[in-house]
Amino acid sequence: MPAARSFARLPGFRDFSPGDLALRSHVFNTWRRVARGYGFREYDGPPLEPLGLYVEKSGEEIVEQLYTFRDKGGREVALRPEMTPTLARMLAGRSRGMPKPIRWFSIPQLFRYERSQRGRLREHFQLNVDVVGEAGVAADAEVLAVAIDALRGLGLGEDDFVARVNDRRLVTAVLTAAGAPPGAHAGCLAVIDKAGRAGLERTRAGLEAVGLSSGTVDILAELLSDGSRDHLADRFRTSGAVIEAMTPLDEHRSILEAMGLGAYLHFDFSVVRGLAYYTGIVFELFDRAGELRAICGGGRYDRLLELVGGEPLPAVGFGMGDVVLCELLRDRDLVPGAAPSCDYYVIWVGPDQRGAGLEVSHRLRAAGHSVMYSLRPQGVGKQLRAADRAGARRALIIGPDEAASGSATVRDLRTGSQKTRSLPSLLETAATHFAGGGNP
Ligand code: HAM
Repeated sequence: MPAARSFARLPGFRDFSPGDLALRSHVFNTWRRVARGYGFREYDGPPLEPLGLYVEKSGEEIVEQLYTFRDKGGREVALRPEMTPTLARMLAGRSRGMPKPIRWFSIPQLFRYERSQRGRLREHFQLNVDVVGEAGVAADAEVLAVAIDALRGLGLGEDDFVARVNDRRLVTAVLTAAGAPPGAHAGCLAVIDKAGRAGLERTRAGLEAVGLSSGTVDILAELLSDGSRDHLADRFRTSGAVIEAMTPLDEHRSILEAMGLGAYLHFDFSVVRGLAYYTGIVFELFDRAGELRAICGGGRYDRLLELVGGEPLPAVGFGMGDVVLCELLRDRDLVPGAAPSCDYYVIWVGPDQRGAGLEVSHRLRAAGHSVMYSLRPQGVGKQLRAADRAGARRALIIGPDEAASGSATVRDLRTGSQKTRSLPSLLETAATHFAGGGNP
């Protein structure tokens, strides 16, 4: 036998013990409920994709973070770092003939070789919600409403998080009006995207490095320090292109205000999103205190489907990660209890009652209840303690008298009260209660 070796978990990856998984399931269940409430249908795709799907389409930052290798058939492949290219690829092959708009959602696990830090790991789960085939701003508002409601459904409110919203077309109009040459726009977006974390001095240096004059850098620096909508409108009141580029955002806000979600919105000129494919309104959700990394990011990407060989369809959507979100839920004490629980713990007093105990257990399970029992012969006291540890609501005790009369003693483990019930009547109530959705 080779010597025993211990293996550490890879950095940036997580184990989910049942307690941790309970929170994850709570988040996924809420995400599913909210997305379905807006009429979205769930899809999934493969975790491994051709490398080419991400190169150029996703943008440099994500490509540098890819887990990529050559498979045994010589294909260059990558673990999916995001879902949007997979969605685009899937729809490119099947969207023709599908009724539009297409409303799809997914909860994939994604992989990015990032420097592990608070809120950023090397794998995470992400709720993806996308509307494909609708160019109007109502679709942009619809997906942002889903993102906001997904957080509200978990108990977070307007004191806890904010949606920072901008429009890439507006940024482009501002860059042009401020005198930035078109060739420098992509570089400017990359610098603006990092402005929040880089600070003003490094941002100014970055803007100069992509070829902007000091006058243009001054204007952008001013907007990054005071990026309010009114300041922007005032600063560019003579530029028709900038004023016109503000219209979609105004309509977007009015739709979300009509839904009662206006308090969550905050215009922010520095939100441009790091991914290459966005073309219109973009947004990111952050904790209100601004202490954590982004909880969610998304926006409009009207050219991606065409880029992967599909019909030219406008699209808008977002990705909401579980890592920062769970940090916020823990911080706000919004984590549901994860103690073990079951409906019944069946106890047989001696080996002669084992058959009756197993039969009733099996029938209760068939009726939809969770049932446990000891896997080895034990005294009644020990079995009752095990029932407690298992979080059982009731113990069913079968001794020689009960077995002889086809009954069981049912003890309510919360109140301690108990009564003897005939097994047929107990099973009948158990089945009725389950069919009615309640607990017997
Ligand atoms: P993203 O901004 O790259 O967008 O990611 C969206 C969210 O996923 C982030 O706000 C964050 O919560 C979470 N996330 C990203 N990377 C990590 C990481 N390394 N560790 C933990 N959480 C992370 C996208 O992925 C776009 N494809 C979203 C989208 C869908 N746009 C349109 N449709």
